[in-house]
Amino acid sequence: ESSEPLQSMAGRGRLVPCACLGLFGVLCWVWVSFASFTDDQLPPGAPDALDRGAFQPQSALSEMEFASVGPYRGPGNNDRRNNKELPILLWWSGGLFPHFPGDSERIDCATSSCLVTSNRKVQLYKRTTSIIFYGTDFRAYEAPLPRLRHQTWALFHEESPMNNYILSHGPGIRLFNYTATFRRESDYPLTLQWLPSLDYLLGPVVVSLEEKNRLRRKGLGPVLYMQSHCDVPSDRNRYVQELMKYIQVDSYGKCLNNKPLPVHLEDTATATGEEAGFMNFVARYKFHLAMENGLCPDYMTEKLWRPLHQGCVPVYRGSPVAADWMPNDRSAILVDDFASPKALAEFLKHLDEDDEEYAKYLEFKNPSRITNHRLLEALETREWGVNDMSKPNYLNGFECYVCDRENARLAAERANRKAPKTNRPPQSKMANNSHMGCPLPSPGYGHVKDLPADDGWLQIWPQDYWQSLDQAEGLESLIRLNESDPSLLWKHIQNMAVSRARGKH
Ligand SMILES: *[C@@H]1O[C@H](CO)[C@@H](O)[C@H](O)[C@H]1NC(C)=O
Ligand SMILES: *[C@@H]1O[C@H](CO)[C@@H](O)[C@H](O)[C@H]1NC(C)=O
Ligand SMILES: *[C@@H]1O[C@H](CO)[C@@H](O)[C@H](O)[C@H]1NC(C)=O
Repeated sequence: ESSEPLQSMAGRGRLVPCACLGLFGVLCWVWVSFASFTDDQLPPGAPDALDRGAFQPQSALSEMEFASVGPYRGPGNNDRRNNKELPILLWWSGGLFPHFPGDSERIDCATSSCLVTSNRKVQLYKRTTSIIFYGTDFRAYEAPLPRLRHQTWALFHEESPMNNYILSHGPGIRLFNYTATFRRESDYPLTLQWLPSLDYLLGPVVVSLEEKNRLRRKGLGPVLYMQSHCDVPSDRNRYVQELMKYIQVDSYGKCLNNKPLPVHLEDTATATGEEAGFMNFVARYKFHLAMENGLCPDYMTEKLWRPLHQGCVPVYRGSPVAADWMPNDRSAILVDDFASPKALAEFLKHLDEDDEEYAKYLEFKNPSRITNHRLLEALETREWGVNDMSKPNYLNGFECYVCDRENARLAAERANRKAPKTNRPPQSKMANNSHMGCPLPSPGYGHVKDLPADDGWLQIWPQDYWQSLDQAEGLESLIRLNESDPSLLWKHIQNMAVSRARGKH
């Protein structure tokens, strides 16, 4: 499951030329570009970085000025400026720079144009108006400091909350002015990123109920669990272990394994890909335990959508508001609707024995039974595509969102300078907890106070969460004091801890 995030990148069209190679092609590409990037990185705060004359255009730009003009121009874009005059957006996480080849490109968006680059040499330029970060790679001790007043920060984070809890704390998320996250409240929401289309939901039931019942009589369990990433913040194993006491769960992954995977599927099962043999294998189950690795509003992955696609019923725990996005009010079983694993098991057994009731969960395969307008509207109005080359991928979509916002902000600032009396300065804009805000991890089953002190989950995740808060506050303090060396983070965290301790006396 560590490959979970990468799968979503296969949808990033032109970002990943090798997308058709599948998961591992993508993995290679990302890894390689990170490796080649680090050399390029200036030691933060090095005298060199400041002496260069922070706001003078440097040689790094010359190549970029002549970068080719992209083929796409939004119908509302009358931006005729040449490359030298455009604002620059810097991708701090160069490994995700959504252009190929080279490290710089002109983008022509819906209403305006920008230069985008992954070349960190432009960090302190006056023309560099925004820095874009990839949430999973965001490290407080490597942040671009000093934070310049004229620059905004933009966050792209579609992956699991577990990848970086800094962003789930107020002081962490408020560092950013623009966000693209899985939350519907974010500026450029990626909520349904794992749902390719309405047709995907409507796909025919792969294994009929008669066949599922026949397999049940031959000993196949009613419930499938397939997980190989066991130590995760959602602590799903602890819940499943309890559930297993009351109903047969066939578990093929490394976690709570109780069945061998057929040899011919061993290579495919860890991938989240849609390899046919694997898909047909899992489609035989009436119920799929679909449990995310981290719990957060609107964080939903293929674990939820794939069983719906196949005509199996997801037994879901992940986003606490997943019901908001379901095709209708009877298409998924939500773990948190049940008082206990035992109560859930009883309900599943009841459905297992009642074909008519079970079939109701698949009625949404008839388009007229998809009654959720929020779902339909979101699928219809999103501008980016999933595995759809005819639409922009969401990385390009987000950088264009930032580009248009920044050009509007700069225009408003110019207007305000010219005629302060008639033109107000642009309103400042800052993200808040509604753009991420994932809660403190809690045990998958039972209460924290009942866990033994040496519990593996207890030793990792709650601590990770609170240490992330320290880092967010440390970075906030570095920025407030206009520090230019992010590695001072640890010292700041220590100082804050000391003054907190003093405050207690
Ligand atoms: C961007 O966010 C920061 C807080 O992190 C804030 O101080 C600044 O005013 C914001 N900039 C704009 C242009 O809104
Ligand atoms: C948080 O941000 C959203 C918009 O992104 C805004 O509607 C909401 O009012 C903000 N909440 C607070 C408490 O500032
Ligand atoms: C912050 O530091 C930078 C470089 O160290 C300096 O150029 C800038 O004037 C400082 N800003 C403030 C507000 O002190």
